[in-house]
Amino acid sequence: MPMKGQDLKVSLISNSAQETMRVAKEFGLQLKPGDIVFLQGDLASGKTTFVKGLAQGFRVNPKKVNSPTFVLMNYYKGKVPLYHFDFYRLDPGTIEAFDFDEYFYGDGICLIEWPERLGIHAPRLSYLVQFQHKGENKRRLCISCLLKHRVKSSR
Ligand SMILES: Nc1ncnc2c1ncn2[C@@H]1O[C@H](COP(=O)(O)OP(=O)(O)O)[C@@H](O)[C@H]1O
Ligand SMILES: [Mg+2]
Repeated sequence: MPMKGQDLKVSLISNSAQETMRVAKEFGLQLKPGDIVFLQGDLASGKTTFVKGLAQGFRVNPKKVNSPTFVLMNYYKGKVPLYHFDFYRLDPGTIEAFDFDEYFYGDGICLIEWPERLGIHAPRLSYLVQFQHKGENKRRLCISCLLKHRVKSSR
């Protein structure tokens, strides 16, 4: 019986950027409009690489996928709209001014790098993917599914 909070967790080692993209593509195939995925990890731990692979599964050219560090959000028009956020440089003034809810509670899938920068403004998430640097080409990926939220949101 799952416990509340983080209910299902998969941990794996990726030995290349290509492998991370493959995992992300597989993972992405079961996402649904309205899902919110948090991507957490240090710089260069593989968050954007993960989004490239995931986007590929939605028929978006991975070359179009870049960290939206300076623009806050990139939109990729795939089978389902993908909203790719990077809040690394988010400042409190922008949080107040920008209407994120339109995207967070919209018709697409939100992929959020540096979600911790949102603080109390962070939306409820469906999945948490954590990245750890383990070597030049080695990363640990830990994917948690937050069933509690998904059950609620599907009603
Ligand atoms: N196993 C791996 N998984 C993901 N990226 C890897 C891996 N091995 C090497 N890399 C490289 O590490 C870098 C990760 O960068 P990026 O995905 O932009 O990270 P972040 O968005 O977390 O800052 C890329 O240059 C990528 O090619
Ligand atoms: Mg990035």
